[in-house]
Amino acid sequence: TGLTTFDGGFVNTSACKSAITYIDGEAGILRYRGIPIEQLAERSNFIEVSYLLIYGELPTASELDAFTDRIRRHTLLHEDLKRFFDGFPRNAHPMPVLSSAVNALSAYYQDSLDPKDPEQVELSTVRLLAKLPTIAAYAYKKSVGQPFLYPDNSLSLVENFLRMTFGFPAEPYDMNPEIVKALDMLFVLHADHEQNCSTSTVRLVGSSQANLFTSISGGINALWGPLHGGANQAVLEMLDKIKEGGGDTTDFMNRVKNKEPGVKLMGFGHRVYKNYDPRAAIVKKTADTVLESLGVNDDLLDIAKGLEEVALNDDYFISRKLYPNVDFYTGLIYRAMGFPTRMFTVLFALGRLPGWIAHWQEMNADPSTKIGRPRQVYTGYTERDFAPLDQR
Ligand code: CMC
Repeated sequence: TGLTTFDGGFVNTSACKSAITYIDGEAGILRYRGIPIEQLAERSNFIEVSYLLIYGELPTASELDAFTDRIRRHTLLHEDLKRFFDGFPRNAHPMPVLSSAVNALSAYYQDSLDPKDPEQVELSTVRLLAKLPTIAAYAYKKSVGQPFLYPDNSLSLVENFLRMTFGFPAEPYDMNPEIVKALDMLFVLHADHEQNCSTSTVRLVGSSQANLFTSISGGINALWGPLHGGANQAVLEMLDKIKEGGGDTTDFMNRVKNKEPGVKLMGFGHRVYKNYDPRAAIVKKTADTVLESLGVNDDLLDIAKGLEEVALNDDYFISRKLYPNVDFYTGLIYRAMGFPTRMFTVLFALGRLPGWIAHWQEMNADPSTKIGRPRQVYTGYTERDFAPLDQR
């Protein structure tokens, strides 16, 4: 027995050592493998960043070609797995569909389940990176009752995902390079964020030496919650409600500050950032340019900017160091691109995948890793006798 430390919510507990992502929450700094997020967002792309996170270095030109090519060859889903989607109700949220299908990969690809075999780990990694966009697109197609499209391996990962999501088998898909560029950049911004709730989940599941597919499925479920990745959907729903109510942000902010049950300024606040989330700063800039280039004029962007302006000058938010986080403006961009609100968290999952994989691999490669098994502070009864049914 002995004394244990209590830290509910792991506010001040390091659960592992990691060399992947650095955050300084006070200064608003985020770096993947030492490289500032601002540079990666502007100069890199999602495939390259995935490689960087997973393998630790930027790829050379030939490494990048080989990696891209390998992912391209694994985009198809097993035909039987495609039928899996038929079993879900049409109005299902795409997140449980996504996590179920990812978990099912463990049943379809049994030759890549051993976490201790480097070749199998590499194969499951490539399979996941290649197949998640296909699964995500099919979850969407199922929800709108449209036919599934096979991947087209002449396209990039993001192009392929957009075509499988919005395209039709009967006609060519009109690719918009602005959307491709913006979505790729948003994936880069989401690609890792050290020991957040879903990544910690992936690590905890994986610490039992569970396979990669099933560990990632656990992470997708953790991501769905509104305090985590589900916040991007919750922000849009909040903005929509404010608009429906006549656009009065003061009334809404008063309800937030009075801590009415269930009323929070979604997309604000962060466990680690006590300064402007550097990802939010990039997304805010992008929101303006993307909406403008798509010719979308969305009142919700004005409402969001209004809320931010009020919050940044209000004591409640200032004293608690609450700033916009990555989820505050992303939904507006996704909506302008044509995604329904329910797909927003799926997009977060697509972006976060390489981070989850990198952490799972880092943990498995470390011989000092032990199974995750926290202790507790017991608050129940001391010993008491069993009472027979007629005496209760
Ligand atoms: N609106 C109003 N008040 C807030 C908010 C908010 N969004 N966030 C925190 N607070 C208050 C909170 O009530 C508490 O007040 P007090 O000290 O009077 O009790 C104080 O600020 C500290 O908050 P906390 O809940 O103790 O902080 P936490 O680190 O446990 O929670 C959080 C972090 C992100 C869950 C929280 O800020 C939150 O619920 N935000 C809204 C949901 C959201 O946007 N989540 C996305 C996070 S970023 C990326 C991602 O993971 O998706």
